[in-house]
This record gives sequence, structure tokens and C-alpha cells, in this order.
Amino acid sequence: MKKVLILLLISTIISAQNRSTEQRVDSVLALMNLEEKVGQLVQYSSGWATGSKTDRPEESSSDLLKAGKIGSFFNIVGAETTRELQRIAVEESRLKIPVIIGLDVIHGYKSTFPVPIAEASSWNPELVKKSARWQAIESSAAGVHWTFNPMVDIARDPRWGRIVEGSGEDPYLGAAMAVARIKGYQGDDLSASNTIAACIKHFAGYGAAEAGRDYNTVDFSERTFHEFYLRPFKAAVDAGAATLMSSFNEIGGVPASGSHYLLTKVLRGMWGFDGFVVSDWNSVGELVPHGVAANLKEAAELGLEAGVDMDMEGNAYFRHMVELVNEGMVSIETIDESVRRILRIKFRLGLFDDPYKYNNVETEKKNVLSDEIIKATKDVALESMVLLKNDGLLPLKKDIRKIAVIGPLGQSKEDPLGPWNQQGQKDYVVTVVEGLQNKLGSSAEIMFAEGCKILGEDRTGFAEALETAKKADVIVLSLGESLHLSGEAQSRSTLDVPGVQEELAKELHKLGKPMVLVLMNGRPLTINWFDENVNAILECWFLGLQSGNAIADVLFGDYNPSGKLPVTFPKSLGQVPLYYNHKNTGRPLNPKVPAYTSHYNDESNDPLYPFGYGLSFTKFEYSDLKLSKSEFKKDESIKVIFTLKNTGKYAGEEVAQLYVRDLVGSVTRPVKELKDFAKIKLNPGESKMVEFSITPEKLKFFDLNMDFVVEPGDFKVFIGGNSVDVIEQSFKVVE
Ligand code: BGC
Repeated sequence: MKKVLILLLISTIISAQNRSTEQRVDSVLALMNLEEKVGQLVQYSSGWATGSKTDRPEESSSDLLKAGKIGSFFNIVGAETTRELQRIAVEESRLKIPVIIGLDVIHGYKSTFPVPIAEASSWNPELVKKSARWQAIESSAAGVHWTFNPMVDIARDPRWGRIVEGSGEDPYLGAAMAVARIKGYQGDDLSASNTIAACIKHFAGYGAAEAGRDYNTVDFSERTFHEFYLRPFKAAVDAGAATLMSSFNEIGGVPASGSHYLLTKVLRGMWGFDGFVVSDWNSVGELVPHGVAANLKEAAELGLEAGVDMDMEGNAYFRHMVELVNEGMVSIETIDESVRRILRIKFRLGLFDDPYKYNNVETEKKNVLSDEIIKATKDVALESMVLLKNDGLLPLKKDIRKIAVIGPLGQSKEDPLGPWNQQGQKDYVVTVVEGLQNKLGSSAEIMFAEGCKILGEDRTGFAEALETAKKADVIVLSLGESLHLSGEAQSRSTLDVPGVQEELAKELHKLGKPMVLVLMNGRPLTINWFDENVNAILECWFLGLQSGNAIADVLFGDYNPSGKLPVTFPKSLGQVPLYYNHKNTGRPLNPKVPAYTSHYNDESNDPLYPFGYGLSFTKFEYSDLKLSKSEFKKDESIKVIFTLKNTGKYAGEEVAQLYVRDLVGSVTRPVKELKDFAKIKLNPGESKMVEFSITPEKLKFFDLNMDFVVEPGDFKVFIGGNSVDVIEQSFKVVE
């Protein structure tokens, strides 16, 4: 009888399409007992591990589901396989609450797109949104409801391996990319069967790990935190991100996954976030080694009270939450609030209305690795490359007869997939050699020699590489990092091109042949020797399935590169952290008399390549910078107008960038801050008037009292194709 009643109630809930989500959430909550409520707060990996081993429950996934002891699984894919989990949840558990299935779709499911830092190099939010849309279409067809992406952590230290997963060092660009990805994954209708919930991570400050060592301590001022590190999170919350992941690190003595200030005061109180928070892998359990909880039970209490709704692989909620409530240590109201947040997202995804909406095998066959999505990976790859140097060698002439591709990445099928490639299919990867063969067919001979491995000291391949290179008209050096050198837990203590690759390049250089470096890597590297000695450098990051075809298009001028760096390239590791939006200091460098000004004895302060930098085969000229007025009220917007001209021989796209500087404030302000950008296409000789606007919102900052305000005073505005080479004007803001 009881069972029949519950079934009746559930079906009323499900059919009540016109009732508000909140009412439906409450009606489910009213039926739940304590164990079932706690079950919703528990998440386990149902497949492979993406973190260290934890003390998992003995029961199988299906037993846990049947018992209502689990609300979410991750690391499990396939329309059929995930259907079975869902079937158990909605047909065999008492309350039939659907399970939510998560996965790290970071830059694709099986169809691998460029790594996030590469996509950010496109400075094209529309393109990045399309990429996320495709990733959602493909992964949702394989049973995925929810991706643990985008990673919106600001990173100023290239030693940190996870710099590859984000959008670089700047909060404005980072926010634009975060919003684009949220919109792409979640679409206009989260309940559609081809949209998935996004999860902004890692909240917060994770990218500022001391010395770039993953999981390390973070400590900075509240102002820096809000002004730089929290900006992309705030933008993503405003854009409607469904979920958020709390991070591993501590900030100022408080681990983020136990921080009431962050997860409740800022996120929910100040920002109004109404989705749910999932911990990172065991980050609630790690409150014990952090030293703020004596045992797992205390960690569970701390985590939930702070605002972590779902415990990923932590066992803390699973093992101790019922007991904590029964002992009166955690209130049922707190539990209810967390359950409510999780159910809300399950409703918004439409899982209560149709729990199997992501489990159509036909859709899976059609959408996974479809021709359209593979083509899309190439479109994104083309815009993700950054031309760092070109003395005129590029584009190569199509009548070249002999090309030597030299280096360990030239034929690699795996590395172009990059870290976190999920179910990336190496058989679908087009290598550099294959890309050149596809482009030139039988008209040219493409020779290959590995020369050396990515890591290690073995130089025995040098001789063959030199012999091969001797026969060629041009050398394409294919060097860099393996996919395993960046990503989670992949910090490095040097930024050199690893192993003996640079040595190999030096040997080849002695042949005096034209050389282009095609670099694959997950972080800025110190490539001074290459900058001085090779003819051209193409930064490719990891471009995904269509790597070789996209690279060949650029090398032969079928695509004119348009990417710009989202992160500064230092000259040497000792300069790190080096970022463009730094403060002036009381003793800024005086290049003429450096003594007692802020500088190094043995290195310049300048980067090798600044933020926003990237070349094209054509040239762009900026002129006629004008402002709508020179004096503005603090609630007015300013129009910034200038002319951009393509003065070169090729059609091309330029990312025009706008920076501002607030000259005097109640607190010190960065020497430059990005406040707008636009990608503009121009034919040779064509020019265009471009208009940006500086809204009051863009001039706001956290003043002496931590109020977010515009302060009257003098400003500078800069326009240019990177953060250094700019033209400028001044304006004044008055009360
Ligand atoms: C990572 C997260 C990831 C999670 C699940 C963790 O180790 O830090 O970024 O989403 O594992 O795979």
C-alpha cells in the first residue's frame, strides 16, 4: 500500500509539468527519509579513477543505487551502459529519483578539440561556444548529463600543469571564455536532450598554487582574490552555470572545500548562485590532512556546513552524515537545503520528466565522431594557433619538393590529443606528417625522422635526423611536450623544451636550412634560442583530432593565423610569475639607471612574448584613436574609436585589444587591464573604423573599503594588437 502511494505521488510530481521546479523539488523532498536525503549528496566514480584511491564502500554501484544511497556517478559512458544505471535508479529504488551522471568533458568526448588554453588563444568566444556546444551534443548522446568544465582558474605560473585547462592569466578574457563555454554546454534550454550541465571549477584560487606545484598552498590578499581570481567565476555564475566544484587548495589558512566564506557568503550570499556545489575528488576528506578536521566525521560536518552539497569520492558524507544528523551535529534543514539544490538541477536537466533522454543508442551512433564534429575540431584548431615568429619563411611555397619533418611529435598519434582528452581516439588523429601529405599529395616528398624522444638523454637518433634534413628544402621541427607533461599533478620545475630536443635543433641549425618550429605544449615554454635562431615558430598547443591538417593549412598559407597569446611567455623561469597586468611598484624599472629600481641583475623584466601577442602573414596598422569626449561622468559610457588597416598582402583577421589604466586610485591599480577585444577580418589594403565602449562596469574595482566602484580621476586607454605595442589616449572621469 505504502509503495503504491509513493508511486502515485511520484507520478503526480512527474506529470506536473506546469508546476514550478521549486514546488516539484519540495514535493520530492517531502517523501525522502534521512538515508535517501544523504544518498543524494553522495557521488562515486563508477568507472576509472581520476584521483587517488579512497576507502570506497564495499557495495556495488547497483546495490548503492537500489538502496537510494547515491545521487550521482561519474566516469561512466555509453548510452547503453548509463541507461542501465538510470534504470536501476528510476525503476528499482524506493523513490525512483534519477541519478545524475558526470564526466570530465574538458575539450571533447571522443572528438577531441584543442585544449582549453589553445581555444582561448583564438580570442573568439563565439567559436569557443560552438566548440562547447559540439562537445555537449556528442557527450550527451553517450549518456553524459554533466561536465566538470569549464575550468576558469586564472594562472600566472606556467610551472602549474593545469594552466593547459584554463584560459590563461587574464580575468576579462577568462570571463569571456567561461561565459562562452557555459552557454555552449548548457545551450538555451538545459532540459534539451543535447545540452549538459556545466560545472565551473576549481573554486577558488587553485591556479595560484605556490611555486606552481599542484595542490600547494595559496595565499593572497582578499583584493587580489576578488579582482583577478574570482572574476571569471562571477561571470560564469551570472551566465547561469548549473554547478560549481570546490577546490583542493587552502587560501589564507582555510581550505576551499571547508570555506563557509567562499561557498556560502560569497557564492550564494553575494552572487546568488542557486545551483549545487560538488567537492573535488575527496577534497572534503582532505580537510583532515589539511589539518582543519581531526577525522573524516569532522570533515563531513565542516564540508557540508561550509556549503559543499555533494561529496565526490570522499566517503565522508556516505559514512558519517546520517550519524551527524542523528547526533544533532548537523541540522536536517542544512541537509534539506543541499538536497534541494541537487534535485533542482536534476529537474532543470529534465531528468525527472524523462530519465532516459540521454540514452538513445541511435543518437549516440549518429553524433559520436560524426563528420560534422570532426570538421568542427579543425575549424577550432585553425583559430587556436599562434604565430610567434616569422621572418618571411611562412607561408611555405606549394612548389617545395622535399620537406623533412624532424622531432618526436611529428608522427605522434597520441600527444596531439593533449591531457584530459577523455575518450580521445588516437586513430583519428592526423599527425604533422600526415597533414603535410594530405595537403601536398604526391607533388612533394615528406620525410620523417624522430631524432630523439620527448624526454631522456638519448642522442642516437640525431645522425638519422641530420641525414634526413640534409636532403630537404625546409625543416619542420616538431618538438615540445608530451600530453602527459601537463594537466593535473603535472607541475614542472623548468620551462625548457624537455629532453635533448633543443640540442637536436641546434645540430640541425648547423645545416643552414630554413627551419620552422611547430611547437606542441601545454604551457608557456622558455624558447629564447628558437626565437633567435629558427625562421618561424608556430605555437600549436595540443590541437586535437585534426592537428596535422590544421598545421599544414597554416604552414602553406591556406589559413592565415589569427591567434593571440592568453598568457605571457617568460624569457626565463626566474621571472615567473610574469603577467602583463602587474602593479607599477614604488620603484618601477628605470632602464637607463636600473640601480635601486625593480629589476634583475641578470635578466630583463620583459617577457619573450607578451600577453595578447600573435603574428599574422599580413600586417595591421592602428591609427586615429579618438574618444567620444575627454571628460566623463562616472555613470557614463565612453566610446573609443580607431582605424584598423590591413597594410600587408594577405587577407587576415586581427584581434584588436583595448586596455585601460587608472592612474591614481585609493588603492594601486595595474599598469594595464584588458577591457575589450574584437576579431576583425580585413582584405589587403582594407581599413575599418572600429568602436569599443568602456562602460562604468569596466572601470570598477575594489576600493580601499572593498566596495566595487568607479573612482573619479585620470585614465589612459590603449589600443593595439598585443599588450605592449599600443597607441594611447587619456580621459578623465568626474563625479
Ligand atoms: C580534478 C577535477 C576533476 C575530478 C574528477 C579531480 O582530480 O581536480 O578537475 O573534475 O578529478 O575527475
